[in-house]
Amino acid sequence: MEHLLKLSTLSPDEITHILDVADEYKRLHKAGQDPKDLAGKAVALMFDKQSTRTRTSLEVGVYQMGGLGTYLSAADLQIARGEPIQDTARVLGRYYDAIICRTFKQSDVEALARYSGVPVVSGMTDYAHPLQVLTDLMTVRERRGKLAGLRAGFIGDGYNMANSLIVGCLLMGMDLTVACPAGYRPAADVLHFARRFGDHFRLVQNPDEAAAGADVLFTDVWTSMGMERETERRRRDFSGYCLDAARLTLAAPDCMVQHPLPAHRGEEITDEVLERHADEIFEEAENRLHVGKAVLGILLAGR
Ligand code: CP
Repeated sequence: MEHLLKLSTLSPDEITHILDVADEYKRLHKAGQDPKDLAGKAVALMFDKQSTRTRTSLEVGVYQMGGLGTYLSAADLQIARGEPIQDTARVLGRYYDAIICRTFKQSDVEALARYSGVPVVSGMTDYAHPLQVLTDLMTVRERRGKLAGLRAGFIGDGYNMANSLIVGCLLMGMDLTVACPAGYRPAADVLHFARRFGDHFRLVQNPDEAAAGADVLFTDVWTSMGMERETERRRRDFSGYCLDAARLTLAAPDCMVQHPLPAHRGEEITDEVLERHADEIFEEAENRLHVGKAVLGILLAGR
């Protein structure tokens, strides 16, 4: 792995290795033995969108690993005044050992990777959220002891989370049904990727079909960052796509629920379902820390 910009560049073995390293960092952290794998190293944390989990888990993770993490709000960089991404990349790559970037366009993280000369990790774009889905896979594997053969469902927008879940779940041998309204389908190249997995992937409009028999159900907000002006239209278009207690009865009796957070209770998930599954949802949030460290440990410390 040279960069982590999307999951389709990884093999199943590479994903398994990331999850194994994350499990090990978690174990060592709980034992009070964080390895200082980033001693003397500096990581740029460049954000052009709000964040709670991604920013703080990476800031704390880099600290636990003995490195320096610098939070860079894109609004405070010359990029906000028109400095090209490729020039920003060539400058940051001369100071930092790695760059983590949350932004809108996937082409911007690709440009950072092309021009910076250092490993680049996506902290989420409009196209993909690889760190989050690696975390989801870690959490499911931790609780179920396996990934291959599990039946997963995603109910919601065919956006960055759905795109990354399709790739991650299928690569790891899971069956996945994605339910989204017409007009909110996942990216065309991701659907093309899914075709090679045959019946293991289904794209449907009826959310009950995604829930039926599921071992794990995923959902995400209906209105992502940057789409706020579409909120009312989206509420109408996604009405009926809520993960509520009635829908959950269609799933396997011990079905897990995962949500990347922040949640909009009463929209994509009810308060009741979120609270009933809070343990596994907030374990998922905790695991962002261990997965972020694992990706940096592999990229910068040869883990
Ligand atoms: N799940 C996630 O990416 O959370 P933040 O937007 O708070 O970083």
